[in-house]
Amino acid sequence: MSDPYSDHAAAYAAHNAVAPYNALYERPALLDLANDVAGLDVLDLGCGPGVTTAELVRRGARVTGLDRSAALVEHARGLSGAEFLVHDLADPLPLTDAAVDLVVAGLVLHYLDDWSAVLAEVYRVLRPGGRFVASVHHPLTDVRIASLEPHGAYLESYRIADVWEMAGEEVVVWFWHHPLGSMTGWIAGAGLTLTDVVEPRPLPSMADSHPESFVRLSAEPAFLLLETRRLG
Ligand SMILES: C[S@@+](CC[C@H](N)C(=O)[O-])C[C@H]1O[C@@H](n2cnc3c(N)ncnc32)[C@H](O)[C@@H]1O
Repeated sequence: MSDPYSDHAAAYAAHNAVAPYNALYERPALLDLANDVAGLDVLDLGCGPGVTTAELVRRGARVTGLDRSAALVEHARGLSGAEFLVHDLADPLPLTDAAVDLVVAGLVLHYLDDWSAVLAEVYRVLRPGGRFVASVHHPLTDVRIASLEPHGAYLESYRIADVWEMAGEEVVVWFWHHPLGSMTGWIAGAGLTLTDVVEPRPLPSMADSHPESFVRLSAEPAFLLLETRRLG
């Protein structure tokens, strides 16, 4: 089956490293939420080209990165000394119980139609007291993207077609809209406790480098960040 991330891996990796929504917005916000990772065992779900993974390694974590795109995992291997595995989140995580202190999932959960199974797996691989931090498309603003395609009501879950330009080609990337209540329901259902919700602001440097994006993202968030914990 065709996968836009694998089909355009080199172009996506180059884009992800410097694109303002990644480099000046999502990545710094997710790393802030991850906080001090020095000495922690960290699992990076949907690590993609591995830029966030490499930064976690640079900050002193021992990281395992997983992604279903073999081409992006290959790219990630070139960026850091983390361990990488090609893995689809539809399958159980290839880790033993209570293996890590922190699970990170940057902009990947919105590719899943249902978070129950993966969050149950996150709970299983976290040590008691461990944290899970994730960024997803903000459920209010993704509906605006949905003006590209027929879409449903906010309170429904439905797929949205996002059209990107990669390497001069139009590429359709499908993701899921889920209302906030479904996200919090899946979190509670997995036994995780929601401890923080962040609607990030762009880095101030975006005001000079990408002023239009800065104004837009300072008015309404494109992404939502969630921190949850395995308490017991
Ligand atoms: C927007 S990219 C984010 C990459 C990286 N986390 C970051 O923020 O830079 C989404 C990634 O999720 C991966 N992905 C999507 N669905 C997946 C699944 N079911 N299992 C594993 N990875 C998946 C894609 O291959 C892609 O690398």
